[in-house]
Amino acid sequence: MNLIAVATTGGDAPGMNAAIRAVVRAAVVRNLKVIGFERGYAGILANESRFLDARGVGGIMHQGGTILRTSRAQEMKTDEGISRATEVLKENGVDGLIVIGGNGSFRAACKLHEASGIPVIGVPATIDNDLAGTDTTIGFDTAVNAALDAVDRIRDTATSHERVFVVEVMGRNRGFLALEVGIEAGSEVILVPEKEWDMEGLCRRLEEAHQRGKKSGIIVMAEGAGDCMDIAEVIGKKVGFEVRLARLGHIQRGGHPTGTSRLLACEMGAASVEFVLDGWRKDMTGIQAGHIVPVDLEYASTANKPIDEQLYKLAQVLST
Ligand code: F6P
Repeated sequence: MNLIAVATTGGDAPGMNAAIRAVVRAAVVRNLKVIGFERGYAGILANESRFLDARGVGGIMHQGGTILRTSRAQEMKTDEGISRATEVLKENGVDGLIVIGGNGSFRAACKLHEASGIPVIGVPATIDNDLAGTDTTIGFDTAVNAALDAVDRIRDTATSHERVFVVEVMGRNRGFLALEVGIEAGSEVILVPEKEWDMEGLCRRLEEAHQRGKKSGIIVMAEGAGDCMDIAEVIGKKVGFEVRLARLGHIQRGGHPTGTSRLLACEMGAASVEFVLDGWRKDMTGIQAGHIVPVDLEYASTANKPIDEQLYKLAQVLST
């Protein structure tokens, strides 16, 4: 084992830079050389990389985004893409690849390992927190806090005007972000794709809340739970509340990573190097009950990670 390659792929997540830094420094301590591919898989396909050393990754821990940049490379879904990427890794003499990203990136990484035989370790970094086998992912805590800051501000104006706000958060087709933000913001309603809901029931809940003395309200909804514009319009017509809509969008992906995201990135990045050296071949560096563990990469990227039912029930209780 001589050369490790690292790439950040898919949607960026705050803490990716801290993970790159950890990979590089842990590798240097183990006398390994590191190259970083630019723009995720796009850079692998184009054979664009640079050597990374301990000094070269200084001063990046606190920065959001990724110094290596990233992309969503559709070519990696094709056999041609996988064989081109295999060719490039072999040409560069890569002995192990560390992919910092989410489930789409890990699915491609599994195929790349099968085609090339090169060990591939995934570092879970996504604001969606939707990877199985890890309690949390790099960037999730930062995104929760960014959304929370926005919802707290919205609460002030909602209360002042006695309005209902529909706040849409990211999460693709999962509701981890919405559930946590909804609870921590003290929202009246949380809509997640994992739980069925209907307009009638939603309007009834808002009316009942009004009868209990609530003059304003916040609905935190996951982007995958429905059409936020339709929801806002129907509530306005049926319940009679004045309604406003806020889509938080990519604000949730940027900014300084929180201490929690940084620490996770440090631990996971460094552990990934050890996993390559220990002979793990197609695994994700997960965290379970505070312990860093290897998790089969195929499982991590394809299995359904269940939503926390207790947390969901708690949200119903606390929104009364
Ligand atoms: O996977 C992270 C994520 O931010 C999702 O929550 C969101 O649905 C998607 O990426 C947005 O992707 P893009 O940045 O390509 O628009």
